[in-house]
Amino acid sequence: MALRTTPEVGGMGHSIKRKEDPRFIRGRGTYVDDVVLPGMLYLDIVRSPFAHAKILKIDTAKALAVPGVLAVITGQDLAKYNLHWMPTLMSDTQMVLPVEKVMYQAQEVAGVLATSRYAAADGVAAVEVEYEPLPVVVDPKKALLPGAPVLRTDKKDKKDNHIWHWEWGDRAATDRAMAAADVVVKEDIYIPRIHVASIETCGCVAHFDKVMDQLTVWMTTQAPHAIRTVFALVAGHVGLAEHKIRIISPDIGGGFGGKVPVYPGYVIAVAASVLTGKPVKWIEDRMENLQADSFARDYHITAELAATKDGTLTALRIKTLADHGYADAAANPSKFPAGLFHVCTGSYDLKAAHVEVDGVYTNKPPGGIAYRCSFRVTEAVHTIERMTDIMAHQLGIDPADFRMKNFIKPEQFPYKSALGWEYDSGNYAGALKLAMDKIGYADLRREQAEKRKRGELMGIGISSFTEIVGAGPSKHFDILGLKMFDSCEIRVHPTGKAIARFGTKSQGQGHETTYAQILAEELGIPAKDIQVEEGDTDTAPYGLGTYASRSTPVAGAAAAMAARKIQDKARKIAAYLLEVAPEDLVWEPGKFSVKGSPDRSKTIQDVAFAAYTNHPQGMEAGLEAVSYYDPPNLTYPFGSYICVVDVDKGTGEVKVRRFVAIDDCGNIINPMIVQGQVHGGLTMGLAPALLEEISYDEIGNIQGGSFIDYLLPTAVETPKWETGHTVTPSPHHPLGAKGVGESATVGAPAAIANAVVDALWHLGVRHIDIPITPPKVWRLLRDKGVTE
Ligand code: CDP
Repeated sequence: MALRTTPEVGGMGHSIKRKEDPRFIRGRGTYVDDVVLPGMLYLDIVRSPFAHAKILKIDTAKALAVPGVLAVITGQDLAKYNLHWMPTLMSDTQMVLPVEKVMYQAQEVAGVLATSRYAAADGVAAVEVEYEPLPVVVDPKKALLPGAPVLRTDKKDKKDNHIWHWEWGDRAATDRAMAAADVVVKEDIYIPRIHVASIETCGCVAHFDKVMDQLTVWMTTQAPHAIRTVFALVAGHVGLAEHKIRIISPDIGGGFGGKVPVYPGYVIAVAASVLTGKPVKWIEDRMENLQADSFARDYHITAELAATKDGTLTALRIKTLADHGYADAAANPSKFPAGLFHVCTGSYDLKAAHVEVDGVYTNKPPGGIAYRCSFRVTEAVHTIERMTDIMAHQLGIDPADFRMKNFIKPEQFPYKSALGWEYDSGNYAGALKLAMDKIGYADLRREQAEKRKRGELMGIGISSFTEIVGAGPSKHFDILGLKMFDSCEIRVHPTGKAIARFGTKSQGQGHETTYAQILAEELGIPAKDIQVEEGDTDTAPYGLGTYASRSTPVAGAAAAMAARKIQDKARKIAAYLLEVAPEDLVWEPGKFSVKGSPDRSKTIQDVAFAAYTNHPQGMEAGLEAVSYYDPPNLTYPFGSYICVVDVDKGTGEVKVRRFVAIDDCGNIINPMIVQGQVHGGLTMGLAPALLEEISYDEIGNIQGGSFIDYLLPTAVETPKWETGHTVTPSPHHPLGAKGVGESATVGAPAAIANAVVDALWHLGVRHIDIPITPPKVWRLLRDKGVTE
């Protein structure tokens, strides 16, 4: 994309430095835990050691005797106000505090309120709870067997642990295509439960001012407006009206989808503040965060992919069990219980597809959040990219050639997928070719062949993924009925500086910089002169927040549309000042000049001053605009990643030697920020591919509930990422931009898994579930007789 502005103005395409960084680098960020109010109380939470148990008795006497402890809040206390249960974002229900039984290990059992964080923790240790353990259901397959203990006994008519069945696509056409295919490959793929593990855990400071009858909550939330509405709907009956609730989402230390849901701790803190009239702070510790907050993935998939023997893909059939824990608290658009999983035909021109998903209750924490991914797209991408590789190997065709043959071609866009999505634009072959050139694909295949002769294990893996981001068009996308538009409000001040507020909320993505760049592009006001604000429901326009890479596709588009309204008014003012008709003016970013007389001009700053001092009679003063943008379609970013691994025969350790990532997010606002997003995303893709997993033993004890055994990648495990991009603009986005924040997390695991299987295919290995840990690989090598 050609640059339209100078580096000083800093519009789209300039790698200007992040405006937020001086604040963060100098320790001047304000995170929730930095908020300290006079008279503030502290909340800590008693948690269940059992995964499923009746609560027989909660004895608070010893806790109340701890110096500094003021109160112990139980489910019985909340039940008096009907606040012991709350709705989830998927219209299920979830306990705030239990009255009868607990449903997972680490579930909240009671809240202890104290004058210091330490006293609260001592109080927690002194609360005595008597439990009666109940049979535990951990495996979702067993959860569906007849005779399995029914978990949701709170639901009167519930006779099993099945939550919902959802299917999409043409079953009959898919069955026919499968039956007619020359080759069908079938695989069971488990995508394990993982956690976003953001560096900042969740927390809030709730302050109910009894005099002003006003609740203010500083909160680690990615969606402040939606949370305000949910609070008003849930607690309206105890007098919390929406205009009396202010949610402030200050600086956030990573969200990745984990800070979308409402957690019980938030509600207990609010209830405690309303009851005491004092500010109440609740901040989780690391283990609470990992053990009790919403998880991601946990999809048990059976996939079948069909092709002709010359290597043309024909059909895809998928059946999935989605383990949701004890409540469906996923953060999906209402109409899509399995998120956007049905983008699972990926980058390939498949004529038939059918997908079925069944949600299941188990004794685990609730969730199913979109961990740095647009609602189950990672699961979809991992499945199709693994299956494509299996098919290529099965047919003896190079995986790169196989992809090239089956890609949707550039001239097929806009492309209607077999599962009903309308892909906006793409050039998949272009991205793969660039990745192959950059990594030296042909040479690597030669090297691999030589090494194989010597018995060395080297693999090359490709992932050519298509994402789907920018939820979403209001026809199909809502959360609890709230349509998924987003917003921007701009005020240009008399001296030509501006403030812009958004319904989204950055958690480290650099919105203060990139939104300012969009406005600089559209208005010619330098990005440094534009203040960007998000996260305060009293000042920002209503929007659905930041997750699922929707900020650029939706709020970024709103910024352009609001700026264009300002430009329209500015044109009328400039015409008045220059005494010409508005259509006689030529616009270049920052300046109107008279057609044919370029020296007769007015800058945007001149016009801004006139908007307050010398505007035409009959026109309202000021230079402001707001846009609520309802996108006509989603955007479909894509990329091709190639990974080279060496597998140690002795230990089973996988070393990522090289990783080339070519991304395409349409027109780029800030190349440096995009590169940063891709670097971070790749590391978050490496993590589940090789390291991270939360599992449970047969009685529901969590494994992976602390950083001792939930293994985050450090600089030592992280390879040097080699990045690049192609640019295929979105035809419907006002700036031609697509989202990018999640692409790398979505695309990377399959490239790594494909590389490892590629290294071992000749030994008879067809598939390895992620995380591909050294013990897993070592056992395979031992079974194949490669190592002892
Ligand atoms: O919703 P979220 O901010 O997480 O994701 P995004 O819209 O994909 O944007 C992530 C960051 O990359 C933001 O700062 C964007 O403005 C920036 N970006 C960009 O510079 N150019 C694009 N085409 C897409 C995103």
